[in-house]
Amino acid sequence: MRIIKIFDTTLRDGEQSPGASMNVEEKLQVAKQLARLKVDIIEAGFPIASQGDFEAVKRISTEIKDVTIAALARARDEDIDRAAEALRLAEHKRIHTFIATSDIHLNFKLRMDREEVLDAAVRAVKRACQYTDDVEFSAEDATRSDWDYLCKIIEEVIKAGAGTVNIPDTVGYTIPQEFGELIEYLIGKVPNIDKAVVSVHCHDDLGLAVANSLTAVLRGAGQVECTINGIGERAGNASLEEVVMALKTRPKFFNADTRIVTEEIYKTSRLVSKITGMVVQPNKAVVGANAFAHEAGIHQDGFLKERSTYEVMRPEAVGIPQSKLVLGKHSGRHAFKARLKELGYELSEEDLNIVFEKFKRLADQKKHIFDEDIETLVSEEVSKIPETYSLVDLVVLSGLNQKPTATVTLKVGEKLIKKVEHGDGPVDATYRAIASITDTKSNLLKFEVKSITGGTDALGEVMVSLEEGGRTVRGYGADTDIIVASAKAYINALNKLATRRRVSL
Ligand code: KIV
Ligand code: ZN
Repeated sequence: MRIIKIFDTTLRDGEQSPGASMNVEEKLQVAKQLARLKVDIIEAGFPIASQGDFEAVKRISTEIKDVTIAALARARDEDIDRAAEALRLAEHKRIHTFIATSDIHLNFKLRMDREEVLDAAVRAVKRACQYTDDVEFSAEDATRSDWDYLCKIIEEVIKAGAGTVNIPDTVGYTIPQEFGELIEYLIGKVPNIDKAVVSVHCHDDLGLAVANSLTAVLRGAGQVECTINGIGERAGNASLEEVVMALKTRPKFFNADTRIVTEEIYKTSRLVSKITGMVVQPNKAVVGANAFAHEAGIHQDGFLKERSTYEVMRPEAVGIPQSKLVLGKHSGRHAFKARLKELGYELSEEDLNIVFEKFKRLADQKKHIFDEDIETLVSEEVSKIPETYSLVDLVVLSGLNQKPTATVTLKVGEKLIKKVEHGDGPVDATYRAIASITDTKSNLLKFEVKSITGGTDALGEVMVSLEEGGRTVRGYGADTDIIVASAKAYINALNKLATRRRVSL
């Protein structure tokens, strides 16, 4: 099986996404994670572009070993010297130099003719070779260049010492069949092509960057340039996770794989998203929030019987702990029952029917059904939460010149336990007393009070959210006395946590 090199350009082309710029520390953090992901090459920046880019390449070169660090340089002496200076301390360094080869770029941007561009490319590669024997040349806008001119320039830069020749689809213009033919044409036509690795670098303007990259691999490309989450200039670059997982999922088709530790993919995606502030769309392949979520009843049913019915790869393979069954209006009874079981409820068929009906009605009104909603449905309908703790008595003293004090008595198993606590207010004092009796390690995330009916005699309803060990539960309590309602809500949530703890033991 061929091993395809993964050249990650998240820190260079990815950073060119509008609004995605990263400071040196952030780039270093991403580079460390890319090293754990085991990309072959990290393109750390474009040193001549800014002092920040220079510093980032320098820091990454100093701190990250065991991976090749690349720096970008136009085909100009000063760019190449600056890139070499930034890379000086790298264990493995690559200078990546480029110049455009399409007539559009030559005429309107560079104002150079083909001979001048050829000379500049050869000169740049030779200069870069004075600093390192790992030099990459990119023919910018290759896919809109004359194919024979492209062959000529590729042949000459290989002669000059380039070990990698990159064919960028700079403006995301090509389509898979055409790009595959171009790669095959180059490999067939350039006489010394066997002295270099053919690389591809595709942009996603037509949504084809990954398809184009994979087609190029089928036609002989040995390196793919890509970014985490597909971030990059305009519509972005080929997404690393999609390229890698396509190769991993279809080994017989591609007869190619990468060295990527795929289990690090999700973590890397989250880190890049957090640092750049670029949110990953929920339906994004491989790393989106819904990539392993199933909502349709038929899908959920099939998935629960055999996961390969609706999943082509396992979430664990990309570092996502497990698939999610999203409960919504399309969900079936089978999935609903499975989720209840996970939450610790085993209902009789009769109770299950009642709760499932209620759930369907709620799902028609509400887009997202959370575990807490399901728990409320269950406790409202069949009240199966075992009462590990129950409120026996509550006396509260509070007032203008009074230090709030609560005396709480709970029944815990067969025992009555009483505690007195002070607090910043009557609810605080009550919660401290309950926390002390139950010895809870949970955190109070939310506390909401509302009145169910009008007037001063209104029934007050309290909702609390508690978190313990990554689990969140909601508790409800209602009473005409708002402090009692608060105590009931807290105890209700603590009982849910106690039930979940028992179920997961
Ligand atoms: O898209 C492009 O052509 C580039 C080159 C610098 C490789 O990013
Ligand atoms: Zn690019």
